[in-house]
Amino acid sequence: MAAEVSEQVVGVRELGAAGVDPDDLPDGLVVADETGRIVCFNAAAVRITAVPAALAVGRPLVDVLPLEDLKGRRWWTLTDPYGGLAIRGGQPERNLLLGGREVLVSARYVRDRPCGPVRRVVVSLRGTEARRRTERSHAELIATVAHELRSPLTSVKGFTRTLLRKWERFTDDQKLMMLETVDNDADRIARLIAELLDIARIDTGRLELRRQPVDVAAAVGRHVHARISAGQAADRFLVHIQYPLPDLWADPDKVDQVLGNLLENAVRHGEGMVTIEVAPATAKDDEKGTAVTVSDEGPGIPEESLSRVFTRFWRGSKRGGTGLGLYIVKGIVEAHSGTITVGRGPGGGAEFRFILPVGAPAYLA
Ligand SMILES: Nc1ncnc2c1ncn2[C@@H]1O[C@H](COP(=O)(O)OP(=O)(O)O)[C@@H](O)[C@H]1O
Ligand SMILES: [Mg+2]
Repeated sequence: MAAEVSEQVVGVRELGAAGVDPDDLPDGLVVADETGRIVCFNAAAVRITAVPAALAVGRPLVDVLPLEDLKGRRWWTLTDPYGGLAIRGGQPERNLLLGGREVLVSARYVRDRPCGPVRRVVVSLRGTEARRRTERSHAELIATVAHELRSPLTSVKGFTRTLLRKWERFTDDQKLMMLETVDNDADRIARLIAELLDIARIDTGRLELRRQPVDVAAAVGRHVHARISAGQAADRFLVHIQYPLPDLWADPDKVDQVLGNLLENAVRHGEGMVTIEVAPATAKDDEKGTAVTVSDEGPGIPEESLSRVFTRFWRGSKRGGTGLGLYIVKGIVEAHSGTITVGRGPGGGAEFRFILPVGAPAYLA
C-alpha cells in the first residue's frame, strides 16, 4: 500500500506531460529539489497542512512540514533523506503528527542513478479521514456479519436446548421437524462462512483461478438439469446456444458458481420463463469472448436499485438470502477480466449479462 502511494506520486514530470495538474490529485503532494527546497505544493497539501502554497514554495521542506512521530521526535532528523543511506528509496507510509494533527505520510527519494545524490524528495500526505472511513466500513461489515450469523445460530440453539430439556414430551415427528430446521440453519451458517471467505479472497485479490478450457454451454445444460431433477418444472427453462463459441480458458468451478448464483436468483427472485443464452460477445459488448445472458419474467430490479445489486449484503426483498451472491459473482467475473451488467430483460424481468474473455494461458497467447 505504502509503496503504491509513493509510486503514485513519483512522476510529477510525467503527470505534467500527461496533462494532469497536481492540484487534481486527491492526496497531498509536496516535492523538494536537491537542496531540500519545496518546488511543488499541491492543493490537497494546502488543505491538509493549512499552509498557503505561496508560503510553502521555495522554503525548506523541513520547515514547512515539521513532522513528528507519535513519540514527538522530529521525523526529518530521524529519516534524513538527503544524508541517509544512499540505497534508501524512500519511506513507507506512516502515521505522523503535523502541528498536533495526524497525517499519513510517505516519501520517495528520487536519484538520477542508484546510490547517487537525492535529486528530489517526493512526499505524499493523506488526511486520516480516508482511514477513518475504511475503519468505519470494517466495523459495519463486522456488525452485519455478526448479525447474519446470529439469527440461524439462535434458532439452532433454541431447538437443541428445547430438545435436550424436553426430549420425552415431543413426538418423533416433532423432533424430526426440529432437527431438520437445525440442519437447515447449520447449512445456512456454513454457506455464509463459505461466502465470507470468498469475499475476503476477492477483496484482497487472492481469488485463485485454475484456468482450463471450459465448455460453458455444457455447464449451463448441467445446471438446468440439476434444477429440473431437484423438482423445478422443465418448461421454466429455455436454453439458447449460439455456435460457434470462442474458446474459453477459465476456472470451471468458479464459472459454475456464477451460473449457479444467477440461475438461483432468476428462479428465486424472478418468475416465469428463465432464459439462458450463450453466444459470442458482439461488437456492442466492446469486448471479445463468451457472453452469457440470464433473464427472467419476474418483477425485475427497480431502476433506482440497479446500481446496488452488486454490493455486499444488498437484498431487495424478503425472499432474499444473504445478499452476497451477486457481489461474489461480480468478483469472480472480474477476476477473469470479464464484465457483468444488469438491466431489464425482454420478458420484463431482470437480465444479467456477463462476458468472459478467452483468457488463454500465456504460452498460447
Ligand atoms: N433475477 C432477479 N429478479 C429480481 N431481483 C433479483 C434478481 N436477482 C437478484 N435480485 C435482487 O438482488 C438482490 C441481491 O442478490 P444476491 O446478491 O444474489 O443476494 P440474495 O440472492 O442472497 O438475496 C436480491 O435480494 C434480489 O432482491
Ligand atoms: Mg442470490
